[in-house]
Amino acid sequence: MSLSRRQFAATPLALGLGGLSPLMSAALAQDGAAPSLGGAFAAARMPFGAAVTPMQLADPKLAAHIAHHFRILVAENAMKPMHISPREGEYTFAGGDAIADFAAKHRMPLRGHTLVWHQQAARWMFKDGEADVSRAKLIARMERYIADVVGHFKGRVFAWDVVNEAIVYDEPEHAADANGFRLSPWRTIIGPEFIEIAFRAAAKADPDALLFYNDYETQNPKKAAAIVQLVKDLKARGVKIDGVGHQMHCARIQPSLADVEAAIDAVASTGVIQHVTELDFAINDRVQGTAVTAVTPELLADQAERYRSLMDLLLRKRMVSATLVWGISDAHSWLNGWPKPRVEAPLMFDRQLAPKPAYHALMDVARKYSA
Ligand code: GLA
Repeated sequence: MSLSRRQFAATPLALGLGGLSPLMSAALAQDGAAPSLGGAFAAARMPFGAAVTPMQLADPKLAAHIAHHFRILVAENAMKPMHISPREGEYTFAGGDAIADFAAKHRMPLRGHTLVWHQQAARWMFKDGEADVSRAKLIARMERYIADVVGHFKGRVFAWDVVNEAIVYDEPEHAADANGFRLSPWRTIIGPEFIEIAFRAAAKADPDALLFYNDYETQNPKKAAAIVQLVKDLKARGVKIDGVGHQMHCARIQPSLADVEAAIDAVASTGVIQHVTELDFAINDRVQGTAVTAVTPELLADQAERYRSLMDLLLRKRMVSATLVWGISDAHSWLNGWPKPRVEAPLMFDRQLAPKPAYHALMDVARKYSA
């Protein structure tokens, strides 16, 4: 598709892609390490990266693994409001700065995640003493936070997930308004325009950063339609929105590739950039499933095929211009402990950092699409 190729070429990522020469990549390789996954995807013109933590970067073995296999980074938690601003007027940037320094040292583009979300929020923002904060005060706090945080990382974060998970469909346990907007404190106290206010504040703080709306289960047709509508509404109101992030937390029986393809097509029709921002494939049937009692070769083979077919779809369509996985190995995945401790192995490296069948499937796909 010419549209998507143009979008791809227009992103700073296209520049980031050329950043790591084969020579440097070889220099980063550990003795005996498997060929670089990110290197293989770079050859297929798909920046491929992972969510990382400052503690991982401080561990020489893990840092070498990350530098070798990944080409674009995001902070798993360190840049979320509850960590950056635990108390009013206080900022703790050390974790985010450590990740930004590592990314810069290894010439990896860095995504910023996330500014406005109902979870891992700076909860003090929603309160004024014992009472709920007023609308005007919450807007002022949000604008201040975005100005300070986006300003702090200006020039080091090339894309921000400005708003995360504001839309809900087919989840009776989460209340939403008639337009599908989650009844979070943001939506309840400010109104649906909190999204527009957040994007305007981010654009003001860093006019060069790409600004994303990010969400899970974007393949749900109702959710995809709502996201498309949101993008169109924001654009019609002159608000800068550059991209949509598909989290893409997947499992053994979900999602359907046809739904993923339809969602990507629908978002592409709005002309924004798309990233897959939090990819993983649980070996349980569902993202929240707890039925698996052992990691079997059959489950890993099945998982590998699912990674293969999803990445094949993304590379064939050329509408998604970066892919990030949510964690650096099976030992480092949120799915081990959420919603409760369980047997999981959702990534492409095992607990000893050894490549799994999913790694080999991904290398195959990357090679297939390398020019
Ligand atoms: C969501 C968030 C991520 C992360 C995952 C699970 O997808 O966007 O930041 O918290 O949940 O850990």
